[in-house]
Amino acid sequence: MSVLSTIKKRFSPYSFDKTNVSFEDIESAFEAARWAPSGYNNQPWRFVYTSRNHNNFEKMLSFPVEANRKWMKDCGGIAVILAKTQSDYNGQLDPSAQYCCGLAVGQMLVEISALGLHSHQIGGFNSKELAAFLGLPDSVIPMAMMAVGRTSEEPSKDRKREPLKVLVLR
Ligand SMILES: Cc1cc2nc3c(=O)[nH]c(=O)nc-3n(C[C@H](O)[C@H](O)[C@H](O)COP(=O)(O)O)c2cc1C
Repeated sequence: MSVLSTIKKRFSPYSFDKTNVSFEDIESAFEAARWAPSGYNNQPWRFVYTSRNHNNFEKMLSFPVEANRKWMKDCGGIAVILAKTQSDYNGQLDPSAQYCCGLAVGQMLVEISALGLHSHQIGGFNSKELAAFLGLPDSVIPMAMMAVGRTSEEPSKDRKREPLKVLVLR
């Protein structure tokens, strides 16, 4: 069974309809992340989820840069994606922590699409302030924030991807 059509449904909208998305609404997306592969099964991904109706939602909106905050304010919930860069296996730097974190988020995105929800990740946020607010040790890095929600927006017609012949040598 191919999941390609679910993958292709995903796009990053710039508008959300302010519907709350509870943790329970997207629990299966975190479950999808949980089953990602990782070096030494180290599972370096961690998440913080704040639904729209949670007291901390406004606080979470203080971290994105203004251009992102403008559209994020209408989303149903915000996930923070964290990479734990110190290995549980040997206490050393985990060189694949960020790679594996991305794998987990990739799986999460597929499930969010399958649920009929939408997501838009951002790298444009104040990582230092967010880390301080969350009380993170230096070894845990905020990789991205992700707005989740419902939208009536349609994907733009000019979304582009490199053709496979550019991406794959065969
Ligand atoms: C790590 C990461 C950081 C991103 N940062 C931003 C951002 O700060 N602001 C924004 O509007 N979109 C951001 N995006 C969304 C990308 O611009 C978007 O995924 C890309 O243009 C492809 O469009 P699509 O998601 O609709 O396929 C980010 C995406 C990722 C994965």
